[in-house]
Amino acid sequence: MNNPYLPIPMIIKNITDETTVKDIKTFELAFLNKEDEKNFSYLPGQFAEISILGSGEAPIGIASSPTEKEILKFTVKWYEKGVVTNALHNLFVGDKIGIRGPFGNSFESKNIKNKSVVVIGGGFAFTTLRSLTTYMIHSHNRNKFENITIIYGARSPDDLIYKKELKEWAERDDIKLYVTVDKGDKDWKGREGFVPTVVEEVAPSAQEASAIICGPPIMIKFTIPKLVELGFSPENILNSLEMRMKCGIGKCGRCNIGNKYVCKDGPIFSLAELNDLPKEY
Ligand SMILES: Cc1cc2nc3c(=O)[nH]c(=O)nc-3n(C[C@H](O)[C@H](O)[C@H](O)COP(=O)(O)OP(=O)(O)OC[C@H]3O[C@@H](n4cnc5c(N)ncnc54)[C@H](O)[C@@H]3O)c2cc1C
Ligand code: FES
Repeated sequence: MNNPYLPIPMIIKNITDETTVKDIKTFELAFLNKEDEKNFSYLPGQFAEISILGSGEAPIGIASSPTEKEILKFTVKWYEKGVVTNALHNLFVGDKIGIRGPFGNSFESKNIKNKSVVVIGGGFAFTTLRSLTTYMIHSHNRNKFENITIIYGARSPDDLIYKKELKEWAERDDIKLYVTVDKGDKDWKGREGFVPTVVEEVAPSAQEASAIICGPPIMIKFTIPKLVELGFSPENILNSLEMRMKCGIGKCGRCNIGNKYVCKDGPIFSLAELNDLPKEY
């Protein structure tokens, strides 16, 4: 049996700066051992513990989709005081790191198949939503979902991550994509405005639809009431929680909210589940 505390050795194959200020980077990792690659099976919404020798571990959502073979992607924000995220930002292509996982539940575990899905993301928290969108629109999966609507907002055009994917998705006629920024620059020709307002304008009928939200707390705070007003049931509003974690496997008790471990029972919870938990998140 594999030891869940033992990191899987990986090599950095590519690093993409998502913003011009270089504070958000996407790391493409490849497995050093074929056997590890074969055994690493995940679904959108899950996360891994990124492990850097001498710095420690940090939970990071998996940004790649299982339909993208051979590599795993992680998009990480630089934060002055963040020990692991800072160390990661100082690495280069060819450097080796470890990961543990995949951990947590997936969006699919929340019964989103055969339904219309509205994906609502804000800022750099779009990571696991990139995984989900890439997965849903893949030719093997597209017919498992009805209408797919993606609403993504950031403070400025430069703060939008995955610009290449956004361009590709905009050209597809089998999904609806709405990108908005709080304030555009001189080259911005798209929407301006906050995500909750766009949700109110363009969200599909709540009948048999799931809404999946990842973003800054302020966006979530104002988006959830809009979805409730639009008739989305609490069971069909899904949110991924970010709590401090250590083991990632429900053993250390670091991440619990009431009787739930965010690492094991989450990180994805429906609003109905969250309504039953103490407000410690
Ligand atoms: C399920 C899950 C998925 C996640 N996915 C991602 C992801 O895809 N990309 C990503 O960048 N992060 C993600 N995070 C958040 C990340 O795990 C934390 O920011 C983590 O603290 C980083 O570890 P560190 O060692 O760099 O920082 P630490 O050394 O643990 O933090 C040091 C101090 O900085 C604060 N801090 C750290 N990071 C931030 C930040 N970004 N903003 C504000 N304060 C901060 C901490 O609260 C602490 O006070 C995720 C967290 C969870 C639980
Ligand atoms: S991180 Fe250890 S129980 Fe969740």
